[in-house]
Amino acid sequence: MSESRDGSPAAAASALRSGRLVILPTETVYGLAADAGNSRAVAAVYAAKGRPTFNPLIAHVADVEAARRIAVFSPDAEILAAAFWPGPLTLVLPVQPGGTVCDLARAGLDTVAVRVPAHPLARAVLEAFGGPVAAPSANQSGRPSPTTFAAALEETGEAAAVAVDGGPCEVGLESTVIALLDTPRLLRPGRITRDQIEALVGPLAEAQADARRSPGRLTRHYAPEAPVRLEARERRAGEIHLVFGPASPSPDTLNLSPSGDLVEAAANLFAFLREADARRPAGIAVAPIPHEGLGEAINDRLCRAAGAVG
Ligand code: TXA
Ligand code: MG
Repeated sequence: MSESRDGSPAAAASALRSGRLVILPTETVYGLAADAGNSRAVAAVYAAKGRPTFNPLIAHVADVEAARRIAVFSPDAEILAAAFWPGPLTLVLPVQPGGTVCDLARAGLDTVAVRVPAHPLARAVLEAFGGPVAAPSANQSGRPSPTTFAAALEETGEAAAVAVDGGPCEVGLESTVIALLDTPRLLRPGRITRDQIEALVGPLAEAQADARRSPGRLTRHYAPEAPVRLEARERRAGEIHLVFGPASPSPDTLNLSPSGDLVEAAANLFAFLREADARRPAGIAVAPIPHEGLGEAINDRLCRAAGAVG
């Protein structure tokens, strides 16, 4: 557990300054945060998560001016930042010469992932700290991202000197990641949908097979312990059924959104995977979920949970 009961933004900023780690709430998922300029602190983040050091971290900053100090902005980057920051969008850009995000946080790449989160407590911590903060999702590598304070403490709370309680995460899925290096590319779908991005910068290319450019796509992700079965219209014996839309309630069923709302389903997804897993079922069966809009991100995470990607 964390050393300090004072989970204030000021306590968090002071812990970051002294090279210690912080559980940080964001609007997407909880992060395990470190001073992005301090390679010892960043090394402790990789160690606490059991994360391979070839998979770089996102640098979180308070505003677009701070982002321009660490990354080189193209016209498309300016357009997307103006439209969606603060918010659940991460931009992968060329690293700014003289920028303070350390090599280890970037996994040695000449690019950096940047994001300005919208959560008021994340913003308060970033403003109080004043520099870029490296923060991967606060789960153990390969596990579902934590979307509640309790889940974050359970996953990586031991490693954190300060834990900031921001309540349940509103979005519930990790940020959309767009690379703007050659042609705009979708590295990870999220709450900001493909259509929203394409309306501003044109068609998005897919992530490259090149591991140096899309390192996150190689690793196993978002997996609960129980086997996950997709497109499951019926529950088999011993399974927990995750359903979507109108359904009669049953003790073995968790409904991601009774009204069929994708925003609600996204916010519930990881918490329900955790809840289902905690009951130690024979499996987790997930009903079909539409692929349109935010459904792309939900289905991406479900495929990873089922081991069908990466
Ligand atoms: O919503 C979020 O993005 C959360 C909260 C805490 O901000 N953070 C998060 O971080 O999901 P993480 O480390 O779990 O996922 C970051 C993703 C990984 O897939 C990583 O490979 C990718 O971003 N990434 C980071 N830097 C990159 C870079 N320079 N080039 C390509 N991909 C990069
Ligand atoms: Mg993660």
